[in-house]
Amino acid sequence: MQTQTKLEITPIASALGAEIKGANLADDHAPELIQDIRQALLDNCVIFFRDQELTPDQLVRFAKKFGSLDEHDFIHGMPDYPEVLRLVKEADEGGYNFGGGWHTDVSYMEKPSLGSLLYAVDIPLIGGDTLFANQYLAYETLTDAMKEMLDGLNCIHSALGIFDPKGVARDHFKNMNMNPNNKAEEEVAHPVVRTHPETGRKSLYVNVNFCKRLQGMTNEESQPILKFLFEHGRREIFTCRFQWKKGSVAFWDNRCVQHHALNDYQGHRREMYRVTISGDRPI
Ligand code: SIN
Repeated sequence: MQTQTKLEITPIASALGAEIKGANLADDHAPELIQDIRQALLDNCVIFFRDQELTPDQLVRFAKKFGSLDEHDFIHGMPDYPEVLRLVKEADEGGYNFGGGWHTDVSYMEKPSLGSLLYAVDIPLIGGDTLFANQYLAYETLTDAMKEMLDGLNCIHSALGIFDPKGVARDHFKNMNMNPNNKAEEEVAHPVVRTHPETGRKSLYVNVNFCKRLQGMTNEESQPILKFLFEHGRREIFTCRFQWKKGSVAFWDNRCVQHHALNDYQGHRREMYRVTISGDRPI
């Protein structure tokens, strides 16, 4: 792929995802390079870099080239870097992994994040891959009749059941600096089909972790439709799979991608740093 700079961009699957060579994210921040990386993100929905060595400060400085950063409502960030979350699962820790279940990050916010950057600090010897799914394709492959029904429909999102004081976070994610609280009860309505503010393309915008019901419908009406959409959105043909190594970075566009961190590395430790870039209200 042609870029202004010396980036080498290689797709890793048919649906989405590309590995990028030729950038040192620690200090390579020329405006043309940032512009090429942004374009690669728009073209590929999720991009990957290998062999990076980033301090939290360097991760923050790179991420800020793409917008301001959010602080998480339910996880404390690092003491000196409140925007940086340490996602940790220790070798002796059972139960759920953070990031498991197909989702887009923080879709329960009024303005969910534009994109997330994840940096691999400590990687299990086996397992711990992340799956990504292209939600443009998920929308485009629906029938016209289904598209017509969904266009104009809203879905209610909230963090209830995960980040409230009685939610999943109470008994899991023990080695992360969790802050479950009642803000998780807040609900927000987002369109089921959103239009990407930069590409103008439509994508499916529902996810099993945070979507509760379709607005204006009973539970009985909305659950079968949502169940179909959740399953449709993660069909294998829309996905790619990323195998982490220490120093890998993934940068995904939450406006058109869902992801799912696999929980298949019991007995091994995994630690990542995550930052999220502030986004717009979905339209
Ligand atoms: C996340 O959902 O932000 C975490 C994904 C991962 O750890 O692979």
